Amino acid sequence: MKIALGVSGGIAAYKAAEIVRLLQDRGIRVQVVMTAAAQEFVRPLTFAALSGEKVITGMFESDESQANVESAIEHIAIAQAIDALLVAPATADVLARFAHGIASDFLSTLYLATTAPVVVAPAMNVNMWNHAATQSNLEILRKRGVRIVDPGKGYLACGMTGPGRLAENETIVAAVMEALSAWQDLAGETVLVTAGPTREKIDPVRYLTNRSSGRMGYAIAEAALRRGARVLLVSGPAAIAAPDAAEVTRVETAEEMLAAVLKLLPQSTVVIKTAAVADFRPKTVAAQKIKRKGEMTLELEPTVDILAEVVRRKTFQVVVGFAAETENVLENARKKLASKSLDAIVVNDVSRDGVGFNSDHNAVTIISPSEVVEVPETSKWEVAQRVLDQVVRLRKRTTILT
Ligand code: PMT
Repeated sequence: MKIALGVSGGIAAYKAAEIVRLLQDRGIRVQVVMTAAAQEFVRPLTFAALSGEKVITGMFESDESQANVESAIEHIAIAQAIDALLVAPATADVLARFAHGIASDFLSTLYLATTAPVVVAPAMNVNMWNHAATQSNLEILRKRGVRIVDPGKGYLACGMTGPGRLAENETIVAAVMEALSAWQDLAGETVLVTAGPTREKIDPVRYLTNRSSGRMGYAIAEAALRRGARVLLVSGPAAIAAPDAAEVTRVETAEEMLAAVLKLLPQSTVVIKTAAVADFRPKTVAAQKIKRKGEMTLELEPTVDILAEVVRRKTFQVVVGFAAETENVLENARKKLASKSLDAIVVNDVSRDGVGFNSDHNAVTIISPSEVVEVPETSKWEVAQRVLDQVVRLRKRTTILT
C-alpha cells in the first residue's frame, strides 16, 4: 500500500512527521508532497529522512528540460500509484483549491488526477474555520466523497480558542485506514482478465494480429488489484509490462487463450475479456517460409469464440465482454450483449482518433441489461475504475440472487 501525504502550510505541519511514522507502522509507504507554504514551516529533509522517499516540493523541480517534463507528468504517475491521498494539515487555501478544481501546484493537481480516496485533516484559525467560504468548500468536498477529519477544539497557535486545531494523529490515521478498507471493494474476488492481441501463424515468420497493446486490459488488472482482488491475467503479446502482483499466463494464439481461460475459469468470480482475439486464422500453417511469387490467397477459418465458451461453462461468475466497433456502435454492442448472454459489455468506437487501440485513453459505454453508463474520453485507468464499479454492482446482485 502506498499513500501520498500532502502537507500544507500551517503551524501544525510538524505534526505530519509523526503521521508518516504511524502510517509506516501499519506497513504503508508514504510519498510526501509539500506545498510551498509548508516548506516555510518544516524542511523537506525531515520528511525525506522519515519516509525514505524523495519529497515532492513543486511542479517543476529542476532546471534540466528533461527533468522538467518528467516532473510535470509525475503527478499522473503518482496519482495512479497511490491507494489514498491524505492532506494533513489542510489549510483553508488547499480546501478552497480542491473544492473548485484549481490545479495550481503539485498537491492540488494530484487531487484532481487521482481516483483514490481522499482524506483531509483541516487545521486553521477559528475564524477561518467558521467562515462561510470554508464551510461551503467543506460541504462541496464532503458531497464529493472526500473524508474530512474535523479539527479539535482548544487553544490555537494564533492565541484564540475554538475549533481549528489539527485532529489527533491517531484519529487521522484511523480515517485513512477506514478509507483504504472501504476502497477494497473487490477483496475476496478473483478477477480473470484477458488482454492484448493474439497472433495467428501464417508460416514460421509471419502471423495475423491486430493493434491491441494490452493497455486497457492491464489497467483493469492493476485497478482490480488495487481494489483488493486476486488477478489472473491471460495476456497475448503486449507492448507494456504486466502489473507485478497479477498472476500472468502468456499466450500467443486464440486457441492458447481459450485453454488458459478455461483452466482458470473455475477459480474466478469475475471474467473481463478485454483481449482483441483474432476472429480468423489461416486454415493451414505453412511449414516453411512462404516464397514471394505473384498473387497469393490466404484461406482463413474462424477461431473459437472464447467468450461463448466461457458463458457456456459459467456458474456464478460475472462475465464482462468488450466490443471494438467502427459503425452502429451501440446497436452492435447491444446485439453482442444479448447474443453472447453477457452480464455487461464495454463498447469502444475504435475508429475514433486518440482512443481505443494502442492509446493511453479510451471512451466507452458500459451496457448491462439494467444500466447504461457513458464514460467520455479519459485515461484507460479511469475507464478501468468505471468498469470495475459496474462489476462490483453486478457481483452484489449475483451474490444476493445465489
Ligand atoms: O489493448 P489496447 O491497445 O489497450 O486496446 C484496447 C482494445 C481496443 C483492444 C479494447 O478496448 C477492446 O475493445 N477489446 C475487445 C476487442 C475485440 O476483440 O472486440 P470484438 O468486438 O471483436 O470481440 C467481442 C468480445 O469477444 C471481446 O470481449 C473479445 O475478447 C471476445 N472474443 C472475440 C473473438 C474470439 N474469437 N473470442 C472472444 O472471446
